[in-house]
Amino acid sequence: MRKPIIAGNWKMHKNNVEAEDFVKSFQPQISDIDNVEVVLCAPFTTLGHLISVTANTNIRIAAQNMHWEDSGAFTGEVAPGMLKSIDCKYVVLGHSERRQYFAETDEAVNKKLKAALKANLTPIACIGEQLEDREQGKTEAVIKQQFEVGFAGLTSEEMAKTVIAYEPVWAIGTGKTATSQQAEEVCAYIRKLIEEGFGSETAQQVRIQYGGSVKSANVKELMEQPNIDGALVGGASLEPDSFAQIVKF
Ligand code: 13P
Repeated sequence: MRKPIIAGNWKMHKNNVEAEDFVKSFQPQISDIDNVEVVLCAPFTTLGHLISVTANTNIRIAAQNMHWEDSGAFTGEVAPGMLKSIDCKYVVLGHSERRQYFAETDEAVNKKLKAALKANLTPIACIGEQLEDREQGKTEAVIKQQFEVGFAGLTSEEMAKTVIAYEPVWAIGTGKTATSQQAEEVCAYIRKLIEEGFGSETAQQVRIQYGGSVKSANVKELMEQPNIDGALVGGASLEPDSFAQIVKF
């Protein structure tokens, strides 16, 4: 059985004070949840503080990006080992905003994915089509390309440890959720790609999240789909009551 994983992606929101206030209000509301892995994806500056205020709780902390090199002259970047050194256990990779605004390619995502796995971090690797891809009937082709290049060279064990987030770009921050059927169709297709590349046992182990305008009103129906094992939540994760309702779907 795959354990569902629901992650709040705070993007470029919350300083240390705001993050701690969030945890004080959020944590008591979800403290008895043990059938869902709960993750907060925070800016680099709040990671250390969040990790200490969530110690001994059921909340896990993720970075939103990292570099693939161990160290070096890469001004402004953060290495996998640096995340490990503060006991950060998860990292989001290849988010569409990084692809769109920071020119991140599938090749870069692949290097980051391998580096994260080597450092024993759990990657949450994002893929998803643009609106024009969908309108032109190219959704599967785009997903296949992102998967085949982004996940190239992983062992089956590494693939099994990786969380995939399917985030259709047209549904991010727009209020336009994919219907649960549209989301399920693509998540099932991603599982088929995993099966073709890594075998059926691995395909059954990989957790696939849906992301894009997830809120308390639609999370249950999305989570009921057989190939959707979690959610990556942006806007609705910024407020503790709203994110707690989602986690308790
Ligand atoms: P929204 O939930 O705000 O649409 O954002 C989705 C997302 O990008 C999560 O990574």
